[in-house]
Amino acid sequence: MKQPLFIIVAIDGGAAAGKSSTARVLSERFNLMHADTGSYFRALTAEMLRRGVSPGDLPAVRAALADMKLATRIASRSALIEIGGRLIGSEIRSPEVNAAVSHFAAIPELRSVLLEYERGQAAVARERGFRGLVMDGRDIGTVIFPDADFRFFLHADPAERARRREKEGERDAVAERDRIDSSRKTAPLACPAGATSIDSTHMTLQQVIERMASSLAEALGQT
Ligand code: DC
Repeated sequence: MKQPLFIIVAIDGGAAAGKSSTARVLSERFNLMHADTGSYFRALTAEMLRRGVSPGDLPAVRAALADMKLATRIASRSALIEIGGRLIGSEIRSPEVNAAVSHFAAIPELRSVLLEYERGQAAVARERGFRGLVMDGRDIGTVIFPDADFRFFLHADPAERARRREKEGERDAVAERDRIDSSRKTAPLACPAGATSIDSTHMTLQQVIERMASSLAEALGQT
């Protein structure tokens, strides 16, 4: 098989399903740029909260969005988002952000700002000489890159996912976030048509990684 020059890998799934950890390892193994879009929604949420903007106040959300200049900083293989030249640090994992992020993520105007930014990451990855882009989130294979070369949907039992978050020392209502993320009107969490669906409830992270890596390696003619 002829080796494609540039590949796009979309990984979608619910909260704490292991998407970003898997994507990070794939990015190293296949020299892909990694874009964790959950961290983008979290960074915008943290910035909104810092400005005292609530998700119910649409005029204030719109004004804040118009005032946020987004850029990308590459750290190793990760594409991090900068807002106004600033990286938003550990506060993106705070209980306040965990509780607010799904509400901000349901706002169409905020999603359209990130849609444009996220699609632009393919050009960033090319310019930086990566072999491709691995992007994880909720709507990557359905909306952002529906023609992605590889589409995976990762899911696991909610109790198992809550347990994983607790082990990481985080307070996070994963089932409640999934409920809001799956029921919103714009780009809801859903398994993309034709995606490879993986239930990781009884799998280790390593097993999930190997399952995806073998699909990539096979298609890329790499063993
Ligand atoms: O992957 P995560 O748990 O860090 O994502 C945080 C929230 O961001 C998630 O609850 C919903 C939102 N999100 C989204 O709506 N679309 C994406 N592509 C990624 C995340």
